[in-house]
Amino acid sequence: MILTHIVACSENRVIGTQGGLPWDLPEDMKFFRDTTKGHIMIMGRKTFDSFNGKALPNRYHIVVTRDPSKQSFQSTDKSPVVFVSSLEEAVAHARPLTAQWGDEVFIIGGGEIYKQAFAKNLTDKVYLTLIHREFPGDTYYPEIDQNLFNLTERRDVELPIPFSFLTYLKK
Ligand SMILES: NC(=O)c1ccc[n+]([C@@H]2O[C@H](COP(=O)([O-])OP(=O)(O)OC[C@H]3O[C@@H](n4cnc5c(N)ncnc54)[C@H](OP(=O)(O)O)[C@@H]3O)[C@@H](O)[C@H]2O)c1
Repeated sequence: MILTHIVACSENRVIGTQGGLPWDLPEDMKFFRDTTKGHIMIMGRKTFDSFNGKALPNRYHIVVTRDPSKQSFQSTDKSPVVFVSSLEEAVAHARPLTAQWGDEVFIIGGGEIYKQAFAKNLTDKVYLTLIHREFPGDTYYPEIDQNLFNLTERRDVELPIPFSFLTYLKK
């Protein structure tokens, strides 16, 4: 199993504001959709809430919440949604499903979940869209520890605002 963060952040590390994204970047949204399609996605409950009650098609959603019994969602075979009580439980739940849903499991945020994934050593790879602007916000992505991760790929985009698709791999 490969645990991969997929995240977009600004130069000042902002990823979110008031429960949503601070920007509208269609090319990055397409990258997110294309990359996660058919895979398992692990997320915090607040990030799941930001989908406004709609699970994404053809993805297996694992939502981390301190009280899974309080949560409910009408899911389908094509886009299952399950609730678990920790990041470790999310990874354990994902493991036997990788034969069907792919070996690369995406950690899709938000700030609390990315931070814990680094702290608990549950990160092998990062797809980081770095937006070369500063944005105001209330949720942040941690600095990537250059002692632990190598930048292995970079693709720069200029429009509608300059940003870069970066790939980091654990050393
Ligand atoms: N730019 C990006 O790439 C990107 C990606 C994802 C999200 N975002 C943005 O980030 C923001 C949301 O991030 P966030 O940090 O506020 O929230 P989050 O990480 O999405 O979710 C936090 C919630 O996860 C649960 N949780 C966290 N740690 C837990 C643990 N150890 N055990 C059990 N449950 C745990 C709790 O749910 P309960 O409260 O239910 O217990 C907590 O309230 C939004 O603005 C969203 O749009 C941006």
